[in-house]
Amino acid sequence: MRNVKASPTNTPHWQKLAKLHAQYQSQSIEQLNDLSANGGQCIDAAGLSVDLSRNFVNQVIVDELVALAKTQGMPEKINQLIAGEEVNNTEARAAHHTALRLPDSAQTRADVGETQQKIKALADNLRNKSWRGSNDTEITDVVNIGIGGSDLGPRMACNALSSMTTDGPKVHFVANIDPRDLETVLQGLKPASTLILISSKSFNTTETLENALSARRWLLEAIPQSDLSKHVIAVSSNVEKAVAFGVDADNILPMWDWVGGRYSLWSAIGLPIAIAIGYEGFRELLDGAHAMDEHFATAPVENNLPCLLALLEVWYVNFCNAHSSAVLPYSHELGLFPDYLQQLTMESNGKQVHKDGSPVLSRTCPTIWGSAGTIGQHSFHQLLHQGTELIPVDFILPLHSHSDEHSKQAHLVANCLAQSKALTEGKSEASATQELADSGLSDAAIAELASHKASPGNRPNTIIAMDKLTPSNLGALVALYEHKVYAASVVWDINAFDQWGVELGKQLSTPIFAALTGDDSASTDKTTAFWIKRFTQQ
Ligand code: F6P
Repeated sequence: MRNVKASPTNTPHWQKLAKLHAQYQSQSIEQLNDLSANGGQCIDAAGLSVDLSRNFVNQVIVDELVALAKTQGMPEKINQLIAGEEVNNTEARAAHHTALRLPDSAQTRADVGETQQKIKALADNLRNKSWRGSNDTEITDVVNIGIGGSDLGPRMACNALSSMTTDGPKVHFVANIDPRDLETVLQGLKPASTLILISSKSFNTTETLENALSARRWLLEAIPQSDLSKHVIAVSSNVEKAVAFGVDADNILPMWDWVGGRYSLWSAIGLPIAIAIGYEGFRELLDGAHAMDEHFATAPVENNLPCLLALLEVWYVNFCNAHSSAVLPYSHELGLFPDYLQQLTMESNGKQVHKDGSPVLSRTCPTIWGSAGTIGQHSFHQLLHQGTELIPVDFILPLHSHSDEHSKQAHLVANCLAQSKALTEGKSEASATQELADSGLSDAAIAELASHKASPGNRPNTIIAMDKLTPSNLGALVALYEHKVYAASVVWDINAFDQWGVELGKQLSTPIFAALTGDDSASTDKTTAFWIKRFTQQ
């Protein structure tokens, strides 16, 4: 029996929020958000300071959103996640990634502790050069072959923490089945000094297996088969398949079905991070995430950062008609963070049915996009300021840099703060008119230009700041968004931990691949047949 009662749209809070939107929609953020008058409303947790004062809410709206969250069972659902209960109902699994970042003293899963020791040993051996390749060659390069959660998290983190990647081997990432991805990475490398790390929870992903096969062929062109175990390791929960592929059993680090792919950078999938920055740095990353877990588990909903960010998302998507949300890191090293967040958020909450299978009656996950500031300012920010879409923005702002160039860092911070201010306050047509008059333009020219130069402002944004981009702060940032995603799924009553939608494309590609490579028995639609013909005729 489907429990449509779980739909948030059936709660009195939903109706109240719609009324509040109608009541306040003509106000500006500054009029509405009395909190901004106090110079910002920052909530600090786990090394992050989150300024919510430029959001289109007031206390009445926040209270109603919090009441909605409580009606949807937020505190109990947080407890279920943290306790490792079966929150992923369609796959009958827990989503216990928080267990991976518990301090050693609180760790109850022996297998997690043992795996962390293996990660440490491997990273140490590679960094202190005691892991040797064929002919006693030093390993200078590690190539991570994986895709989705087995790529985006470690790739993003290695990029973010690149200021710490001294001493160890250089870590590369290959994800795409496009042959040029692997080829361009291998181009500058030598087999004898390269370690291939096959990362695949399922060990069943076509892209990863095809790339792993190509990489093995490349290794075997230069090293004997008997030395392959010095050059191939794997991370997988499917040890049997990894062994059948030819990976030495001693070279396989385990994963578990209670860790979702996009939540797995804390597991052995994070091995490239430990190799790149050292195990101590990796442990700091886990500790930062754990500090955010503690906040999520203990702070009341009204003061709970992941919950508040999730509730703001619900408010903008379901009541203010926002279709997308931008994440703009003012840190070049966090340039891959939006890509990472796309999988985390959209693969988790891009859902159209409730946990019981009944259709959702409201929109769910917005489109997530963005790139590093200030580059986007000279590109898509135009639409943020003057376009017709309402796009809430998260600014991610490490206040200080690992670089000594203080003046450039001050420019970076100034630009971030200026963008936040411009989005909020905009520029009225009256002040555009005044500016044009001051520059000596004629009345006719002013009348023609003023409306083009005006910016409406009133575009909600949040500043998520930290002192510096350290492993600990990065861990807290990632955990903040992981929990935000879960908290939003609780409000919408959807399963954040499955991804059935991605399966259809995989299924359909198999017969098309067969047709492209010579099997003409497959029947297909006209469009696909047309392109198969074009491909095979060449
Ligand atoms: O296709 C999506 C997906 O299933 C992701 O959820 C996952 O992170 C990725 O593929 C890779 O899967 P695996 O680690 O099993 O190769």
